[in-house]
Amino acid sequence: MKRTIVALMVSGIAFGSAFASQDNAANVAEAKTIIKAFFEQLKGELEASMKVGGPVNAIKNCQLKAPSIAYDMSARSGWSVGRTSLKLRNPANTPDDWELAVLKSFEERKSAGEDPQTIAKAEVVERNGKSEFRFMKAIPTAELCLNCHGSELKPEVVEALDTHYVADKARGYKLGDIRGAFTLSKPLE
Ligand code: HEC
Repeated sequence: MKRTIVALMVSGIAFGSAFASQDNAANVAEAKTIIKAFFEQLKGELEASMKVGGPVNAIKNCQLKAPSIAYDMSARSGWSVGRTSLKLRNPANTPDDWELAVLKSFEERKSAGEDPQTIAKAEVVERNGKSEFRFMKAIPTAELCLNCHGSELKPEVVEALDTHYVADKARGYKLGDIRGAFTLSKPLE
């Protein structure tokens, strides 16, 4: 951790203003590690609750747990950690302007033939006069996801989603579609 900060400061000095437009390898690596832990925790929780009570139970559990897992991950890592999408289930995950533009570019990159497993974007941006490192990574739709984000949902799943997410748009996905993205940020000073 200390090492990362030192490396950042050194490259900041070395590259001067050019630094702002550079992707930072150490930050990218750290973001990817956090995403892996976040994803495993979400997936573990999802699989466990599906085993206990099927997708309807998992939807209720996900509504409770997903936001708190993101919150814990943010508190532990010092990064802001979340998920977003062009077609949302939970409006609390609405993308900001930067995220919206990146999500659209991910769709274009996928259409151009890039593998959604590896589509990602890193950028140093200015927000409220401060430099911030931002990172997004596409989340491809896997088999498991189709239970709740696919186009052939069980009637009880539809009912549970209609009850808990009145404005749900996150249905009709196919295997390999980009379901959304992990979105992380960290202040640079
Ligand atoms: C048991 C049903 C269920 C399954 C299976 C499921 N999800 Fe979800 N998903 C949800 C619910 C419920 C939410 C809303 C969570 C919340 O309230 O924050 C959600 C939210 C999301 C979001 C956040 C953006 C948004 O639309 O609000 C992403 C991204 C996402 N899911 C991706 C996936 C992926 C990828 C998989 C497969 C690995 C998956 N989901 C499997 C139910 C499910």
